[in-house]
Amino acid sequence: MNKTIAILPGDGIGPEIIAEAVKVLDVIAAKYGHTFDYQTVDIGGCAIDRYGVPILEEGMATCKAADSVLLGAVGGPKWDSCPPDIRPERALLAVRKELGLFANLRPTRLFPQLAAASPLREETIGQGVDLMIVRELTGGVYFGTHTTETVDGEPKATDIMAYAEHEIERIGRVAFETARKRRGNLISVDKANVLDTSRLWRATMHRLSAEYPDVQYSDMLVDATAMQLIRNPSQFDVIVTENLFGDILSDEASMLTGSIGMMPSASLSSGTLGMYEPIHGSAPDLAGQDKANPLGTILSAAMMLRYAFSMAAEADAIECAVHMVLDAGYRTGDIMQEGCTPVGCAQMGTLVADAITQIG
Ligand code: IPM
Ligand code: MG
Repeated sequence: MNKTIAILPGDGIGPEIIAEAVKVLDVIAAKYGHTFDYQTVDIGGCAIDRYGVPILEEGMATCKAADSVLLGAVGGPKWDSCPPDIRPERALLAVRKELGLFANLRPTRLFPQLAAASPLREETIGQGVDLMIVRELTGGVYFGTHTTETVDGEPKATDIMAYAEHEIERIGRVAFETARKRRGNLISVDKANVLDTSRLWRATMHRLSAEYPDVQYSDMLVDATAMQLIRNPSQFDVIVTENLFGDILSDEASMLTGSIGMMPSASLSSGTLGMYEPIHGSAPDLAGQDKANPLGTILSAAMMLRYAFSMAAEADAIECAVHMVLDAGYRTGDIMQEGCTPVGCAQMGTLVADAITQIG
């Protein structure tokens, strides 16, 4: 197959982790006879430095015209004082919105090799962690009106959280379908004891649940979910939640996997175009030192092959190679354990790429 991939390295460790994902994709292309045409797009702080805006219109057009989009990370302290409209994160939100990427899938799996790397006790995660967070990505407070004004001589800021029923329904359907393909259990997370958006969310999910009698459905309040994720993570199969709750819970859940550096994600639209990115940020403190963990990005590339290109064998090969490298004891700093071999970002990418060539 011939596929065009828009590559958005971004800021901080973004370019380093993306380079490793591309290394792995090149090995996949050679082994399985595909051609991947990469089109690099500047996004985030690097684009602000170069053009004064966090993404150019032509960059956005390149993303829209591609078969898929692979992103590293955006942002950093250097751009913290930029006005809200040209912050690096604005470009990421704009890509999500303009490409219609309303469904963000964040698989949270504990690699058994990393049980000791998780800050949680082994008896807590010992039952295994294998859950999927389905985060609504183009609505809620991220996309409501944001204002800062002066009222009675005092600064006052407002962020509007809004959801229309159709936005809830479409993410709900993705979640029910996802649960159907997994263990058939769906928990919808909200704050229906306080928020109107959550009450509409819950009512909509309940209505949908009647159409999916094979899925075991229940509701959980977001504060209780934060606790239950740490207390008893193996109870979760699929979690569906709104944008901000999903942002927070997915960082929390990443600790169940050993390190946030391990967690991939897929952002999907109602069409075939999607964006694939690790859930972590640009980690400016690690940038340029060959210390980042590229596995979240490499696993995001695997999700891209699986979801965007229907290349199941190729995606399996990447995931299998990651297991092989972890089995062999290689670790970046964030997942380092006694007795293991420390490696940098580039070597980790090379190890995964080499492992792919060894798979029969
Ligand atoms: C994420 C990130 C982004 C978000 C930031 C960088 C805007 O934290 O993908 O989880 O909040 O969605
Ligand atoms: Mg986040």
